[in-house]
Amino acid sequence: MQKTMISFLALFLLVTSCTSVPHQSEVSKAVKKQVIILLGAPGSGKGTHGIPLSQKLSIPVLSTGDLLRDQLRNKTDLGEKARPFMEKGALVPDELIVDIVLNRISADDCSNGYILDGFPRTLPQAQLLVEKIKNDSQIKAIFFEVKDQTVIERITGRLSCPKCGRPYHKTFNPPKHKGHCDCGTELTQRADDKEEIIVKRLKEYHLSTEPVIKYFAEQNFLKTLDAEKKPDEVWTDLQQVL
Ligand code: AP5
Repeated sequence: MQKTMISFLALFLLVTSCTSVPHQSEVSKAVKKQVIILLGAPGSGKGTHGIPLSQKLSIPVLSTGDLLRDQLRNKTDLGEKARPFMEKGALVPDELIVDIVLNRISADDCSNGYILDGFPRTLPQAQLLVEKIKNDSQIKAIFFEVKDQTVIERITGRLSCPKCGRPYHKTFNPPKHKGHCDCGTELTQRADDKEEIIVKRLKEYHLSTEPVIKYFAEQNFLKTLDAEKKPDEVWTDLQQVL
């Protein structure tokens, strides 16, 4: 009797342990990195929402604009090569930016995922990125849709923190303490936030980055947000699409 009970128990344990083993596709899905790509025109709100999203999800946000501005400030070789493009509102050449980003996303702090703000911005950048990460990443591209006129109003009133990169707006999103970031640093206006340069950045966006949006839509990675709404409404919509 005791022997039968033991055999029955062994059989029961074997069956339950087999049925609780996840299917192979579930395993690979579970370990995929979360990669969130913020897309949109200059001033569409990528930086505004990228920073709190990074805090909420505990994954880093990598802003290629901030990364390049750091290089400019430190007068590195890369910074000096990028400077003339950035100052006139053009994109820096793909070969200057692609390696830096691919290198950065292989760092340890990106092992659970990361948020990209400002990359990719051209079709070759997008195709290279997807090719590189598609096997181990769950990619979501969020498109912040705004009108050109909105962009101009937002960027001409923007103040940015040169230390943590956080953007504010004189009217729409003022800092708690006038002229200072919540991190305590004095806020500045970005050198490329002048109206005549914004017009060029917008032109570049329509020409080079809109094809990226189309590409992500074709790949079924794209979610679109109405970024004309107030910042807290955009934030709520962002949580929903994620
Ligand atoms: P980058 O720094 O990436 O600039 P950008 O794409 O032009 O984007 P912005 O930072 O201007 O806008 P944002 O969408 O982050 O808006 P924000 O949240 O601040 O790039 C700068 C340059 O670097 C490029 O021109 C290029 O030369 C080079 N570069 C970078 N990446 C590159 C790449 N991959 N390849 C080649 N070159 C590259 O919001 C704007 C303002 O609006 C703020 O004041 C904010 O408070 C306010 N605001 C935000 N949301 C709202 C809202 N819903 N309602 C009201 N106000 C709002």
